[in-house]
Amino acid sequence: MKVIKSSREIREWSRTQQQKGSSIGFVPTMGFLHKGHLSLVQKARALSDKVIVSIFINPTQFAPNEDLDNYPIDLEGDLEKCRAENVDVVFIPHKNEMYSDFHQTYVINQEIGQLLCGQTRPTHFRGVTTIVAKLFNLIDPDFAVFGQKDAQQSIIIKNMVRDLSYRTQIIIEPIVREEDGLAMSSRNKYLSPRQRKNALVLSQCLKFAENEFKRTGRDINNLEKEIKNRIGETPDCKVDYVEFVNEASLTKKFVPGDKVLLALAVFVGSTRLIDNTVLTY
Ligand code: PAJ
Repeated sequence: MKVIKSSREIREWSRTQQQKGSSIGFVPTMGFLHKGHLSLVQKARALSDKVIVSIFINPTQFAPNEDLDNYPIDLEGDLEKCRAENVDVVFIPHKNEMYSDFHQTYVINQEIGQLLCGQTRPTHFRGVTTIVAKLFNLIDPDFAVFGQKDAQQSIIIKNMVRDLSYRTQIIIEPIVREEDGLAMSSRNKYLSPRQRKNALVLSQCLKFAENEFKRTGRDINNLEKEIKNRIGETPDCKVDYVEFVNEASLTKKFVPGDKVLLALAVFVGSTRLIDNTVLTY
């Protein structure tokens, strides 16, 4: 397994593989890899001749008050995990390799980026699309694999690929959970044992909604209230948002048969966790 740190070198490596006729699967990450990330790597491995994983804690997707400086890092562990998954290249650029001091240009999703997580994190998705566009420009992958865990991010990336004519095929993989239901996330590391236990309210509310949807149908307003109450009553937990939206457009417009994304963002202590499930209206 090769570790590449420079943009020039990753571009050259990718081009050389493409000239040889090899397809490239790409998994962008911010590191501190867990089984959720590794499920994406396995998918990329199954689809492509060569697999590139990037590890880059992208500063432009963090607001000044967010956890950029405390974001967990375990480079040695990450490399070990990538080696075990037969990754060909891990791309670990330095910040200066990706952003000059005079960085001026962003990729902006006009509307969807302002909904859900965009309400509390208004510049977040601009950072995500900008870094993913830059990585796609360097690597030009055949496939890029993202997680349903970040449902809004996945939709925004699919929109970007369509709108800006990238040739990369976007693959979305299901949420990988701990045995007790908590969605795996690098940020779970911040939780105290008590908060970790209380954080189960997220996945429990999703299960509850799945069952209610099957049992009573589509009383979205009541369900939304009930879920907000449950989370509000759980110690350490504060609702950021609970929203039922159309999975395709992220709007509140549904017709029978539509896929409904139930997306949650909850502060558990000072750690903001997200989770979601997809229901049929
Ligand atoms: P990061 O949070 O490291 O996540 C990298 C990828 O792993 C994303 O596509 C995310 O959806 C997926 N992922 C995280 N937890 C998962 C889980 N429990 N199950 C399945 N997939 C999971 O998302 C980012 O990094 C960044 O925004 C990035 C796209 C790399 C741009 O900087």
